Amino acid sequence: MNAGVGHEAPDQYGVAGHPVAHSWSPFIHGMFAKATAQNLVYRLFDISPQQFRGEALRLFAAGVRGMNVTLPHKQAAAELVNELTPRAFRAQAVNTIAFFDDTSLLGDNTDGLGLTADLERNLGMTLADKRVLILGAGGAVRGVLGPLLERDLREVVIANRTPDRARKLAAEFEDIGNISACGFSEVRGPPYDLIINATSASLQGDMPVMPAGLVGEDSVCYDMAYGRGHTPFTLWAKSLHAARTCKGWGMLVEQAAESFLLWRGIRPDTKPVLQALAQHT
Ligand SMILES: NC(=O)c1ccc[n+]([C@@H]2O[C@H](COP(=O)([O-])OP(=O)(O)OC[C@H]3O[C@@H](n4cnc5c(N)ncnc54)[C@H](OP(=O)(O)O)[C@@H]3O)[C@@H](O)[C@H]2O)c1
Repeated sequence: MNAGVGHEAPDQYGVAGHPVAHSWSPFIHGMFAKATAQNLVYRLFDISPQQFRGEALRLFAAGVRGMNVTLPHKQAAAELVNELTPRAFRAQAVNTIAFFDDTSLLGDNTDGLGLTADLERNLGMTLADKRVLILGAGGAVRGVLGPLLERDLREVVIANRTPDRARKLAAEFEDIGNISACGFSEVRGPPYDLIINATSASLQGDMPVMPAGLVGEDSVCYDMAYGRGHTPFTLWAKSLHAARTCKGWGMLVEQAAESFLLWRGIRPDTKPVLQALAQHT
């Protein structure tokens, strides 16, 4: 037996969020690591907003090589790192941090690539010239706006519970596409080609009250939230006879594959993981 092989301590990774217990990232990265023969462990780090900065720095000092960052820490993570990739800089939100040997931290945002990979590759959608309505204006929307607008969409409308937050976000991206913002009650038809729910309302079992006329028989309605069965958003879309409803499992797996690529230099095949997760959806 070759002494040393298989006996090195695994590299440490994990996801920081609050709450985070529901996360499937340990399962996904565990499957990626096995399939690509990478010696790593991936854990959950439940960190409150007040403790995020101190606790994240402590984990990196203790040997953590990389961290995914989820709700509500994505903007705090952008302020924590030493350097941002261009897409994370554009988003001012980070969902992936890499810790390098020189102790510097690089912040990236793979949410947008995850969403577009799921829409285009897994669901077969063409995004060019589409009208897109996005509900929500939080960290996830910051991450996906750049990659979506790069697809030459005809129009993007961001609607949010706090309209000013949506307006501020739209203003940050108006140089790269046709984007506007409003409150939920101000959204007008005709029906959108794609409606993305990026509010965290689903996590609370809620769905914002939306005006009539937004969903048509060709509309694809995509809930970034994931879980078993329907969400309040997919139920709303179904009741309005949307062409298709989807949840965010594919985005979750595709953004994870991009994080894994940044950390380990290999983009794992996402299909086996999507198949394994299908039984939970
Ligand atoms: N599938 C994936 O890979 C993936 C990746 C990222 C995120 N997500 C999901 O996307 C969602 C948003 O994540 P995030 O990081 O953007 O969260 P966030 O930064 O906390 O933003 C939350 C957003 O939801 C809105 N909101 C919260 N509760 C609401 C309610 N009861 N009714 C209406 N709007 C409400 C907030 O509006 P205000 O501005 O008014 O507070 C804000 O726009 C979560 O469900 C998350 O799990 C999925």
